[in-house]
Amino acid sequence: MNNFTFYSPTEFVFGRSTESLVGELCLKHGASRVMIIYGGGSVVRSGLLDRVKSALTAAGIAFTEMGGVQPNPIDTKVREGLEIAREFKPDFLLPVGGGSVIDTAKAMAVGYYYDGDFWDLYEVVDGKKKATGTRALPLGVVLTIPAAGSEGSGNSVITNTTTKVKVGIRYPMILRPKFAVMNPELTMTLPEWQTASGVSDMMAHILERYLSNTPDVQIGDRLAEGMLLAIMENAEKLIADPQNYEARANIMWSATIAHNDTCSIGRVEDWNSHAMEHEISAEYDVTHGAGLAVIFPAFLQYGAKHNPHKIAQLGHRVLGVANSGDEAADAMAGALALKTWFHDKLHMPVTFAQLGIENPNLELLNERLHKLKGDVLKGYMDLDAAATMEIYKLAL
Ligand code: NZQ
Ligand code: ZN
Repeated sequence: MNNFTFYSPTEFVFGRSTESLVGELCLKHGASRVMIIYGGGSVVRSGLLDRVKSALTAAGIAFTEMGGVQPNPIDTKVREGLEIAREFKPDFLLPVGGGSVIDTAKAMAVGYYYDGDFWDLYEVVDGKKKATGTRALPLGVVLTIPAAGSEGSGNSVITNTTTKVKVGIRYPMILRPKFAVMNPELTMTLPEWQTASGVSDMMAHILERYLSNTPDVQIGDRLAEGMLLAIMENAEKLIADPQNYEARANIMWSATIAHNDTCSIGRVEDWNSHAMEHEISAEYDVTHGAGLAVIFPAFLQYGAKHNPHKIAQLGHRVLGVANSGDEAADAMAGALALKTWFHDKLHMPVTFAQLGIENPNLELLNERLHKLKGDVLKGYMDLDAAATMEIYKLAL
């Protein structure tokens, strides 16, 4: 196991009706002027936004708001938010929604104190970020969809609308939320597509950490395998019965643990499937988790041939593959078992065509990928342009 630092200060407040505590939580974490950020209207329709505002008013907290954050959040919305923030001068940000809303708030949080355009913090020049954020406005979260895990992570992913670069920042020391209110009941209004895309995303977050060549990280491996089993079991329950509170609760907490680095401690992580998916959702504006259901099995199929050991282990311990003694064959069986499960049980697309992209421009995706990440993507496998193209083609 490698040396590690794990700093996860978020106060998670989980369970039924917990959104009524948001005013007290804001006060407890030092807020007096709050900027609420939300998405395209689901929190308005459900009445959640009104309940959040009532809780803030009851706590004597002044607030302003910005709605309209779209899935696959964009740079121009961050700038709009920063303009409002510079006028209102909040001391706390309160995203109410999912990963797109939270990531927009995080971009604002770190951009607020940056003396220049916030995109400098995201932009990669010569393999390095153009600028580094050192300070951020504190934020709390009211989560409405278990998926991206942004409620417990220090990450934010934004798309630049001019260049179509979708890229993340990772500042666990300053961008992990101060608190996250997580009421599983709030997720019952999610359409099946969003529930399933969220499941696919959280499974990918675990697998990005699991696919590692660092030896002797049994604790991380066993946590990851146990979580994958629990997620798959509860996801199937939710597809059958979206109102199942216990399944909603298990899935919601899983999404957080999948991405708050619990499973990655002490080892090198991969993240190349995410990098490949981000090119797809940046170009074609598809749902991130659905894009991962297409790319991840293809990545595993390629991996079965080039570095099978963890994929075979995944097959044996999670995906019901019998140990034949042939690691590569078992890894391939594992990759195909996951693909089948995504398709048959989760009703996710597993090819570009099923994702609604009949003729993907793979050359463009691959070119942008390597422009952003360099000639060779390092990780569980070293992937040059020919390798990533092979993976994209396996997803056709
Ligand atoms: O915008 P509204 O109207 O709120 O609708 C949203 C949106 O259309 C809807 N929704 C959310 N909660 C709902 C609901 N509809 C009904 N009932 C509810 N309770 O769901 C749609 C998707 O929302 P979004 O916030 O985009 O979902 P998600 O949490 O999956 O976030 C996806 C974004 O996060 C990025 C992805 O790339 C993508 O841009 N990621 C962020 C990460 C991070 N910060 O650590 C890591 C991930 O790997 C990921 O890359
Ligand atoms: Zn993801």
